[in-house]
Amino acid sequence: MNLDLAYRSFVLSVAGKKEVERLIKTRARGLVRRYVAGESLEEALKVAEALEGEGVHAILDLLGEMVKDEGEARAFQERILELVRAVALRPWPKYVSLKPSQLGLDLSEGLARELLREVLKEAEPRGVFVRLDMEDSPRVEGTLRLYKAMREEGFSLLGIVLQSYLFRTEKDFFDLLPYRPNLRLVKGAYREPKEVAFWDKRLIDAEFLHLGKLALKEGLYVAFATHDPRLIAEVKRYAEAMGIPKEGFEFQMLYGVRPEAQRRLAQEGYTVRAYVPYGKDWYPYLTRRIAERPENLLLVLRSLLGG
Ligand code: FDA
Repeated sequence: MNLDLAYRSFVLSVAGKKEVERLIKTRARGLVRRYVAGESLEEALKVAEALEGEGVHAILDLLGEMVKDEGEARAFQERILELVRAVALRPWPKYVSLKPSQLGLDLSEGLARELLREVLKEAEPRGVFVRLDMEDSPRVEGTLRLYKAMREEGFSLLGIVLQSYLFRTEKDFFDLLPYRPNLRLVKGAYREPKEVAFWDKRLIDAEFLHLGKLALKEGLYVAFATHDPRLIAEVKRYAEAMGIPKEGFEFQMLYGVRPEAQRRLAQEGYTVRAYVPYGKDWYPYLTRRIAERPENLLLVLRSLLGG
């Protein structure tokens, strides 16, 4: 049994319990400040501005996911449109991320398509790139269909994410190839059963490099979204050995995680983007960050003991 993955599974399984949610919401203010840019769009834009000053570009993300009714999905879409219009006015690279379940994927694919289409109609003419985040395994199929449908309708400033912990991902990669996708590659952040995902960190890392190298060899533009120094070094080494220029790929990290590494990579001439989440619905995002890092759980527990 791999302890990292067992820890993650434990945290994500208890995170849904009301008492745990109450505890984290009252005791994790420091963590929220570290990982979340703020509750308002203005705060997020300020963080993005500061990152730009350090040579790191922002991926703005309105927090919110797994919406349960159409009204909520439409309300999120309104706020995403507001984000798209605000980002479009900035002089820096324009880039947002969103979750399909935020636009109602769980209610109906038709609704998610309709709402995403309207976002893309606003975003594309303004040069705003939209990344569809990838959620847990039951939502992967629908997300891939959503991505393909939008590409078939002619939208091009749209990217997808693949997760190296899922067994299915290599097949998904080859199915996507004809679309020449702009890929974000991640290890995967959700609690997945052993029937669908690797539970061994070494295998997840190996798959990450395997898929990333395949994608680079195919000439795809890849965003390597990881903080893992070993994987980052291997991507750099491979790209150099293959004569792939620094413009052919990029690195992405989360706001609040290894900021010095973000700046260093940018200084070395790589494109670096930081994922900047904002909004009131930070709880699920924060529990995934706690699940990635036992020290974060210790911080919450320590604050509890401190009274
Ligand atoms: P790993 O977890 O092995 O960590 C490597 C090192 O990074 C750690 O030793 C530590 O030093 C540091 N680190 C990692 N996480 C940290 C944290 N929370 N706090 C402090 N330090 C930390 N997932 C998904 O399923 N769908 C998605 O769409 C996305 N999107 C996405 C976008 C971007 C820009 C990033 C960076 C990540 C995602 N992810 C994601 C999350 C991803 O799947 C993964 O859970 C995290 O990136 C953590 O994994 P690492 O690759 O960093 O490796």
